[in-house]
Amino acid sequence: MFKRGILLDFLLAALAASTTASATPPADGAPHLERSGANTRLIVDGKPYLILGGELRNSSTSSFDYMRPIWPQMAAEKFNTLLAPTTWEQVEPQEGKFDFSLVDAAITGARENNLHLIFLWFGSWKNGISSYEPVWVKSNMKRFPRVQDAEGTNLEILSAFDNANRDSDARAYAALMKHIREFDGTKHTVLMMQVENESGILGDTARDHSPEAEAAWKKPVPEALLTFLAKNKALLQPEFLDVWARTGYKNKGTWAEVFGNSQRAEEIFEAWQYSQYIDAVAGAGKAEYAIPMYVNTWITQYTGEPGGEHPSGGSVSRVLDVWLAGISHLDIVAPDIYLPDLRGVLASYDHLGNPLFIPETRNGAAGGANALYAFGQGVIGFSPFAVDQAAESENVALGAVYRVIDQLTPLLTTTDRTKIASVVRQEGDAKAAVELDDYLLRIQYEGVTVRGAGGGTATNGAATTPFGAALIINTAPDEFIVAAEGVTINFLPNSNRVRQVSIMSVEEGIFSNGVWVPGRRLNGDETNSNDHLIFRGDMPTIQKVKLYRHD
Ligand code: DGJ
Repeated sequence: MFKRGILLDFLLAALAASTTASATPPADGAPHLERSGANTRLIVDGKPYLILGGELRNSSTSSFDYMRPIWPQMAAEKFNTLLAPTTWEQVEPQEGKFDFSLVDAAITGARENNLHLIFLWFGSWKNGISSYEPVWVKSNMKRFPRVQDAEGTNLEILSAFDNANRDSDARAYAALMKHIREFDGTKHTVLMMQVENESGILGDTARDHSPEAEAAWKKPVPEALLTFLAKNKALLQPEFLDVWARTGYKNKGTWAEVFGNSQRAEEIFEAWQYSQYIDAVAGAGKAEYAIPMYVNTWITQYTGEPGGEHPSGGSVSRVLDVWLAGISHLDIVAPDIYLPDLRGVLASYDHLGNPLFIPETRNGAAGGANALYAFGQGVIGFSPFAVDQAAESENVALGAVYRVIDQLTPLLTTTDRTKIASVVRQEGDAKAAVELDDYLLRIQYEGVTVRGAGGGTATNGAATTPFGAALIINTAPDEFIVAAEGVTINFLPNSNRVRQVSIMSVEEGIFSNGVWVPGRRLNGDETNSNDHLIFRGDMPTIQKVKLYRHD
């Protein structure tokens, strides 16, 4: 959690300049990604936008009546964007005959409640299985071939090696994007698209053994992949390099020759194929309406071989390099993070200029703490799953953090990432530290308690909070805006320019339209006489601190 090194920043900035996100705004003013240095921003109607998201359950938007009370409820609970499926079987029930009534209903429902939408295209795959494609696809395995296991048994998964599968999916997705442009191209309710959902082969086989897949397995590894790997060799994910090292980094030959004859090599082979297929679907959609598009990832849940703990070929971090090599229309490879180690997972996707977005994650107080951390790491958005069926207390706890992030949006989206740091308490943590400006910030989680009803200070209140997170923005020399909960923060000299440092002033406050509005001045008990910042554990707040250096 120390601030990233200068060399890494430089490399990221150089890489960012060569990635796929558009550098010039699209002529139609559609939502788009914009990069500068290590920052990626989602621009909506000319302004940077942070997705304070929530994903609806997968069946929710298939019913107008079900959704009617949900739209206003979600808006009241402080979500600004909902993620909602739109499925191939719904939009193309008969081949070539499209029905966009549910798409229009979702856009209208969101729009009437000042919400934005991200549609999840459940086309060929959802959670590694093909369950949302139309009956005319499902029932015709001759025309739409399936993944086969080593015994030749058809699985309930469309083969990523078949062009008929890909082209039919791409045609439907392109029709959807054309319709969204016509229905929403000037209003921009729809911000982004997720293409497919958690793809990869779910089951015991690490690769497809259909005749087309068998032929591809024996072909040379494509030049485009090998060139990418050679160019970025020093930066590739360690787990990927481990596999490649076993063949002495061979850079010519069949998949088995270059990556070995193992399940890990088969996973790499599938990762390339899924990236090609889904990127082609995304490309067909972008030709109609070029808003940002991403894939989400069922990340590895336990250590072990592919096929069991995550779908083989999905964009897990150990094959993220293969995915990044394979895509040119997709803008983001995003992790769904339900694991406790949100920090570690996010760090592994902060890779080669890949923009950060968390499309699925946990809700509630834990989610809120994670959101504080994630927005400090430069995510463009955060979105717990199943928010329409969550207990109200879960959405309320997250909403308290979303209110804070909402206030900070202008500052967060215009400050260079190197001036922003964040921490979040994970199991076993008692403290953390970050470097910013000329200071080391020593952050303690233990000893910070939820304030008791009697209103003591945060260090002598009631029950200890299990949550702690801080998002710190260095707004000027010796000045910081801190949004936090469940932490205390000391400032220590961290450069030969500072002998000693003391707190000059601490204000609690809010941002209103980007302008700081101070509330209480906290220079006494609430900072232990200016020794450290104190953030109680049950409510995220914002403080502005000014320091002074002295002998
Ligand atoms: C991840 C999937 O992407 C979601 O659609 C949903 O099925 C959840 N898992 C369920 O936990």
